[in-house]
Amino acid sequence: MKYNIITPGVLEHITTIVGADAVITQHADLEKYSHDETEDLVYYPEVVVKPNTPEQVSALMKLCNDNMIPVTPRGAGTGLSGGALPVQGGLLIAMERFNNVLEIDEQNLQATVEPGVITEEFMNQVAAKGLLYPVDPASKGSCFIGGNVSHGSGGPRVVKYGTIREYVLNLQVVMPNGEIIWTGANTLKYASGYNLTQLIIGSEGTLGIVTKIVVKLVPAPTLDALMLASFPSNEAACKAVSAIFRAGVIPSALEFMERRGVEWVKEHDDIAFNLQDGVEAFLLIEVDGSNQDVIFADCEKINTVLEAHDCVDVLFADSSAQKEELWRLRRTMAVSVKSNSVYKEEDTVVPRAALPQLIKGIKETGAKYGFESVCYGHAGDGNLHVNIIKGNMSDHDWNHKLKDGIKEIFELTVSLGGTLSGEHGIGLVQKDFMPIKYSDVHFALWKGIKAVFDPKGILNPGKIF
Ligand code: LAC
Ligand code: ZN
Repeated sequence: MKYNIITPGVLEHITTIVGADAVITQHADLEKYSHDETEDLVYYPEVVVKPNTPEQVSALMKLCNDNMIPVTPRGAGTGLSGGALPVQGGLLIAMERFNNVLEIDEQNLQATVEPGVITEEFMNQVAAKGLLYPVDPASKGSCFIGGNVSHGSGGPRVVKYGTIREYVLNLQVVMPNGEIIWTGANTLKYASGYNLTQLIIGSEGTLGIVTKIVVKLVPAPTLDALMLASFPSNEAACKAVSAIFRAGVIPSALEFMERRGVEWVKEHDDIAFNLQDGVEAFLLIEVDGSNQDVIFADCEKINTVLEAHDCVDVLFADSSAQKEELWRLRRTMAVSVKSNSVYKEEDTVVPRAALPQLIKGIKETGAKYGFESVCYGHAGDGNLHVNIIKGNMSDHDWNHKLKDGIKEIFELTVSLGGTLSGEHGIGLVQKDFMPIKYSDVHFALWKGIKAVFDPKGILNPGKIF
């Protein structure tokens, strides 16, 4: 595609649409929008705008479509696959002023929310009404719900509650040509033709810009129990995972953490936690519900499974403060790894019983190519975040050899029945690996869909494929 730069005339038009206080052009002020949380990648947009109505987004899209200017939509910039990076420059539409919870409908257990609302703030407003919006990525305190929609986000509670795909009922979307549509209906069932809502979810801002989100809510559980089980090896911990489900329990979270990750969190954050010798891996297991006896019985069943899988020790959190501390340990792991080393993060996902083979293979590949990794993630979903650490690797090996190692990890993932990303998306950094799993037929279908929504290819170019 041949894109145009933003001329003074187009800039004037942009300013007329949103007002001068919503336009950023100074290099220093653009810095914040030049990167997300993906590695150390930096791409500057030419101009950033901060609209606050769907009509403004519509006018901006129409202008850019008419003038062949690339547009990159951006939420909170917490993405881990480079989806919000303006790789072609152009206009970056920052959604931060779309920050209102518009309605919490207690009659229907639904809410309508704007995409720039911080996920945790939305969860808290819903919780104040005794309801639950359970999609809480590790970055819930800073990510936007719009970004969660764009990535089909997950998080620790997916294992029981499902991803955001299970909660979004309807979306208001501005199309690349400026038309504004609702994708579906505010109903729990939908059998009315192709499901555009599900097509937009996970499309990483390449098909349209989401300006309103209608989600389903559920009654909040009133009780939970949290335990941290420690294991002598990664494989022992991973083998226990599928056994827990086979014992008849669906935990509300089942997270895996490698020892190294826990050590780094302890270094980076002041977390009171005693790390025993001989422990190499942990499972953080939560059970929730509204009946103490049922929760107790589930914990007993889990305990029996853990004992049968060489578990060294089980720590039951006995206060809400301790529960919070254990969750902080898990949730800050990505940030701690990042602050310790240059790294690349892969987001492998396999059917959960294949986890022991996956982690064994990842370590073997690391030994072969000379890299270390810190793995953690949503074991109950078979979703393992693989943080590859630069450590002592030479710049040459890091820049040239590592890619073959990553390819091997993805080949293993695919051979085990999995795919490239469970929740972080493909964005910029994983797209070269897509042919490992997907054929020319998939690419032709995706390109066809893209061409229908965005015939000129102006929206978030260079992402996914
Ligand atoms: C987590 C993010 C990285 O699970 O997905 O911590
Ligand atoms: Zn995660």
